[in-house]
Parts: sequence; C-alpha cells; structure tokens
Amino acid sequence: MPKTAPPQTYRVKSFGCQMNVYDGERMGELLAEQGIAPALEGDEADLVVLNTCHIREKAAEKVYSDIGRLKRKDGSAPLIAVAGCVAQAEGDEIMARAPSVRMVVGPQAYHRLPDMLAEAVEGKRVTDTDMPAETKFDALPARRKSGPTAFLTVQEGCDKFCTYCVVPYTRGAEVSRGFNDLLNEANRLIEAGAKEITLLGQNVNAWAGEDAKGRVIGLDGLIAQLAKLPDLKRIRYTTSHPNDMSDALIAAHGAVDKLMPFLHLPVQAGSDRVLKAMNRSHTVDSYLAILERVRAARPDIALSGDFIVGFPGETDEDFEETLKLIDAVGYAQAFSFKFSARPGTPAASMNGQLPVEVMDERLQRLQAALNRDQIAFNESSLGKDCNVLIERKGRHPGQWLGKSPWLQSVHFESDAQIGDIVPVTLTEAGPNSLHAVPHMTQA
Ligand code: SAH
Ligand code: SF4
Ligand code: F3S
Repeated sequence: MPKTAPPQTYRVKSFGCQMNVYDGERMGELLAEQGIAPALEGDEADLVVLNTCHIREKAAEKVYSDIGRLKRKDGSAPLIAVAGCVAQAEGDEIMARAPSVRMVVGPQAYHRLPDMLAEAVEGKRVTDTDMPAETKFDALPARRKSGPTAFLTVQEGCDKFCTYCVVPYTRGAEVSRGFNDLLNEANRLIEAGAKEITLLGQNVNAWAGEDAKGRVIGLDGLIAQLAKLPDLKRIRYTTSHPNDMSDALIAAHGAVDKLMPFLHLPVQAGSDRVLKAMNRSHTVDSYLAILERVRAARPDIALSGDFIVGFPGETDEDFEETLKLIDAVGYAQAFSFKFSARPGTPAASMNGQLPVEVMDERLQRLQAALNRDQIAFNESSLGKDCNVLIERKGRHPGQWLGKSPWLQSVHFESDAQIGDIVPVTLTEAGPNSLHAVPHMTQA
C-alpha cells in the first residue's frame, strides 16, 4: 500500500453493546492524545474506526457494507481501522476480503492503536488481535471528558460459554479491573461532570477485587464504595448473569440509595430444556427466585431481560413457557432476538435449527407481550414523584430529556440544564417515554 499523510481527523463508529461504546470512547481519547481531532458532524474524517459487534449475523455483514461506503467525495478512501469483536473473530478474513482496511485491532489490543497507526501511515497493513496479559487500561490516557452519564468498564470477558454466544471467544476470559484503578477512573469521570456511572461487564456481577484496606469485595462492595463519592448521584450496572447474583448484591438494592432501582438480568428462555441446551446453568425457577428476592429488597425495582427465540430444538411448548415466564415477571423493558447461528459456537451445529418464518412469528408474539408489559409499567408510573437526571435537550424548545430512576426516558419543560437532577411528577405515559412536570424547588 502507498504511504499516506498522517491523519488530522478521526471518527469512531460503534455498533455494539455498551462496552463496545465505552471502547469506542476510549479509542477516541487515545487518538485525540496523538493530536488527531474528532471530525466534525458531516465532515469526512481522515481516519475511520469501525468498532464492530459480532453477536449476530447482520452486525458482521454491516461491517463489509460500511467499508464499501467509506469512499470520499474525491474518490479516495480514508484510513480504515476495523476494531471490536468482528475484528477479533474474523480479522484475517477482513484483511483478505477488504483490501482498503489498513488496521485490524481486537477489543483487548486497542491501546496499541497509535503504534499501529504509525505503521499504517508507512503503507503497512497491520493486525493485532492479541489478548495481552497486561491490561490495556494501564496504557490508556486518563479520562478528561464526560457527559452527565458515563460508562465504566469494571469487568471484561466471560467464562460462561452459553452455547449460542461468541463473547467468550471475542472478549476472552473473565477479568476484573483493580479497585484503585476503578476508583481513579470514577473520580476522573465525576470531575469531568458525570453524575451517573453505569458499571459495565459482560458478567458485571462476577466482578471481584480488594478494596483500599485489602478486604476481598464483590460488586456490592465496589458499589458501596463508589456511593461514598459525594458528587456521584446515581449508580447502575449491567449486564448480570443470574448465577452471580450474590446475596450481598441483592441486599445492596435495598441498602444503597444511589443504586438505581433497575436490574437487567437476562434469562434468554422460559423452558428448562432450552436453558439446559443453552448451557445457561440456571433454571426458570432459580431465576424467578432471584427476582423475588430482589423485589423483596427493593419493591419498586424495574426489571429488564434478554430473550432469544428459535433456539435449535425449541418447540411450540417451549416457546409458550417463555411467554408464561414473561407474564409472571412483568418486565419494565426487555431485548429480544432471533437465534443467530454464530460460527464456532456449539449451537450453530445443533440439530433442530428452525426456519426463519417460525422465528419471525415467535419474535412477534414475544415482542407483543413485552411491549404490553412495558406500556403497563410506564402507566403504573403515572402520578409518581421522582428525580430525573437531564441528559440532553428534547425535541421542542425549552424541553429536556432525561432518565427516571427506573431508566425510563422522561421529557419535561423547565429552565434547568444538562446534568441537573430535577424532581418531577410523571404525568403522561407512552410506550417508550413519559412526560413530566417539574416541582417548584430543585434538588
Ligand atoms: N453477557 C450478557 C450479554 C451478552 S450479549 C449476558 O449474558 O446476558 C447480549 C444478548 O445478545 C444476550 O443476552 C442474548 O440474548 C443475545 N445473543 C447472544 N448471542 C446470540 C445469538 N447467537 N443469537 C441471538 N441472540 C444472541
Ligand atoms: Fe454470552 Fe452467556 Fe457469557 Fe452472556 S453469559 S456473554 S450470553 S456466554
Ligand atoms: Fe457485540 Fe462484542 Fe459487545 S460481540 S455485544 S460488541 S461484547
């Protein structure tokens, strides 16, 4: 490849989960530290980082079509880096199939982006999908920017090996970041304006570490310590695995005011037979028992989950059981997906792969049930007083958009500003958001 001028501007496009978004922010900070500026909205960037997701088919296909569409008005191509989980899983394939890609970098190697860029500018094509033992976090610049809400990766990787899932392969084994490192990053984010921090991990509730006094603590301990930071007002965490919902973490939902009343606890299916084939290592009953205890600790908790329909061998009866589970829980919100056979995962070669029409029909019924419950949850919030953290401007002048403690989008008119926490009464409920009226005095 020919040499290129060093890039002056960059754009990072993130396509995946919240951790993928977090990684995208950190790659941006790393590039900014090299003197490369973020491209302005609508401008063409000299360097484009496609931060990919491998969780379902469409995600990977999108990468290739995006690469094709990155041509600039003058016909030239920007420097292209493919990062994220597709890079990890299919780095060599991408290099072979997409000659305009200069860099392929995995989720555990992106701290090396500046070195890779130096080589790419010289005309080389570089791949780094190592999972180095030393953590990338030590090599990343300190956080300097934050909105009112921030993500903080505390745990990465997964040892659970659900039979449908690529994450254990793309992210590697479970690793917890050290307590001091996390406290440091949290403090930086708060100084930069974060009022709410969402602790992230593929299995965030598997986080373990030692506090400043050398005591072994779990996620509940980390949450309790973060809650002591006066300028941090709200704490959330995601995503959790049912098997790592410790008694102490459940108790924290009742004991720590700053821990918001929301729990995303994926179950995937409502049939024990399917759960077993998924290698979920929990049953419907054990899952429901956890939710019951969480509700006892925090009666107003809003529950969320993930569902997969059409897992190989899923019968109509199995699917009916999933609908029954949904009826029993009453989720405030949830995500649902058609099973996608991922290369290299055990489920991809299981007997009983289902036709897409069956999956479509089941997904529609599942989503109808979930929507019904989401609307019911929002309507049950009417008349409640709560605080809303303003995240951004709303669609109309003078209108603000923020989140309720239960993670609902709430809009209202007020002379407050972004980052304010405003006490309101919830007055109108739609399927995806609520309207509110602020109280006279501010918190
Ligand atoms: N670690 C988290 C999230 C993993 S990915 C957890 O265990 O919950 C997010 C969601 O994507 C999963 O919960 C699952 O519902 C869905 N998912 C993962 N692999 C999938 C696949 N092969 N097909 C369809 N959905 C999948
Ligand atoms: Fe994937 Fe299961 Fe791990 Fe979640 S727990 S990341 S679904 S393997
Ligand atoms: Fe996607 Fe990787 Fe997240 S596969 S869901 S970006 S961990």
